[in-house]
Amino acid sequence: MDAPIGIFDSGVGGLTVAREVFKMLPNEDVVYFGDVGRTPYGPRSKDIITKFTVQDVAFLLEQKVKFIVCACNTASSVALDQIEGNYDIEMVGVIHPGAEAAVDHSKNGRIGVIGTNATISSNAYARSIHAINPELKVFSLACPLFVPLAEEGYIKKATYLIAQDYLQTMHDVEIDTLILGCTHYPLLKDVIADVMGDKVTLIDSGEETAKVVYRALTERGLLHSNSSQSPGPEGEKKFYVSDVPEKFTQVASRFLGWNIEKVTRIDIGQY
Ligand code: DGL
Repeated sequence: MDAPIGIFDSGVGGLTVAREVFKMLPNEDVVYFGDVGRTPYGPRSKDIITKFTVQDVAFLLEQKVKFIVCACNTASSVALDQIEGNYDIEMVGVIHPGAEAAVDHSKNGRIGVIGTNATISSNAYARSIHAINPELKVFSLACPLFVPLAEEGYIKKATYLIAQDYLQTMHDVEIDTLILGCTHYPLLKDVIADVMGDKVTLIDSGEETAKVVYRALTERGLLHSNSSQSPGPEGEKKFYVSDVPEKFTQVASRFLGWNIEKVTRIDIGQY
């Protein structure tokens, strides 16, 4: 099926998920929406995050997408389970793929989760892990300062100090697996890995989600017809944002590893 995949996030961070989807499904057309005009979602209430998520989905549906990826951990935690039943189209969030991978990796049954305030207070990762295995111990921690640090590309001594301060409790409870439960955290992977040491495996929910998207499209017969050619032509990637695109375009190159040429501004308030 040659319709595009729709991916949305509260802003630029979802590009860490999109880049994994691009790698895994290079022939697919993708429409990405970043709600930069209303970012961040992390400190907001459940009602507001749900309202924004419904609007983000409505915009993607208008683009006639065939499958929706909620790249935002906050929206996936707080809103997705509640709203996905209202649509005919299949949606995947980042929580269950990240939780499953963590359960597979953990040997000592002690898993850490870090994310925004909304993600952590929703307890969505812990619920998802316990649905697989109720015996596992889950330790959750909000690390809100990681979002601006990653977005600014601010990897300095102060970043290590903040990470050490945040993650000390994760050391103390002897986790062997840590879920990076926020779109921005993969950009701080080296800092977090350094602080946690080599006995702790870091789980990138974005990477795991891309594998789930690949499996779902394959199983449902939804892959783009170009993917039967090897190598098939690269799919078209379109980017939309809800405020001026300059900052998004600038930061995007760091999140994606390549430059985006065209970003279109839309009015998300009308959806
Ligand atoms: N995209 C958000 C997430 O993954 C981080 C930024 C925000 O708070 O909106 O939770």
